[in-house]
Amino acid sequence: MNRPSPVTTPSRLPLVGASILSADFARLADECRSVLEGGADMLHLDVMDGHFVPNLTMGPALCQSLRRSLPEAFLDVHLMVTDPGRYIEAFAEAGADHFTFHIEARPEPGEVIAAIHGAGMTAGLAINPPTPIERVLPHVEAADLVLVMSVNPGFAGQSFIGEVLETTRRISGSLRTDQRLQMDGGINSGTAAACREAGCDCLVAASAIFKTSDYAGAVSTLRGGPRESVGTV
Ligand code: DX5
Ligand code: ZN
Repeated sequence: MNRPSPVTTPSRLPLVGASILSADFARLADECRSVLEGGADMLHLDVMDGHFVPNLTMGPALCQSLRRSLPEAFLDVHLMVTDPGRYIEAFAEAGADHFTFHIEARPEPGEVIAAIHGAGMTAGLAINPPTPIERVLPHVEAADLVLVMSVNPGFAGQSFIGEVLETTRRISGSLRTDQRLQMDGGINSGTAAACREAGCDCLVAASAIFKTSDYAGAVSTLRGGPRESVGTV
């Protein structure tokens, strides 16, 4: 895999991930192409197993189709599943670049993180809003990215849970410059600035992008301005 990784590139430019959960699945490749042309830094694939969360979505076959259609796209896979270790090889073979799983699914995540790295992907560790931050803090050092969920996962279009901004601030203070702090859920033009101010440097949104008719405008708003003017900090 020779694509440059926005996850480990040490830059504080806020990245924007487009969660394809709210895209038109019947036109998925076109939707993805449009959002990447509109400036999104990565495609975010929400994988749900109907057990860890009460919804079913997508799997490795869809990831593989996107990889074939979009060889340059950075594919960020977010596993909301009970047994994430079971799917590492399948997503690596399907062309995923990054694999995030939940601390609630693997309270001792070290082996899964090592397996993700062994499969050639970067690794993310996610935490749900009600989970005490102490559960994740001892493990953030091993991860390339920490994902603070700002809704209880399962569905697009939910309201942002403001209490997680404090979690974000605390985790932000414990990260290295080559690690990313991602937030996901309810992020839109009204909540993005607070996320960035709390230290989030990778914002994921589904509805706020795909439910508009101007993907480039939506991405730029989430980032806090055009890429050139936001710059690197
Ligand atoms: C939530 C998913 C999110 C979701 C975000 O379970 O992990 O990625 O698609 O959707 P919005 O941006 O609409 O809240
Ligand atoms: Zn997600």
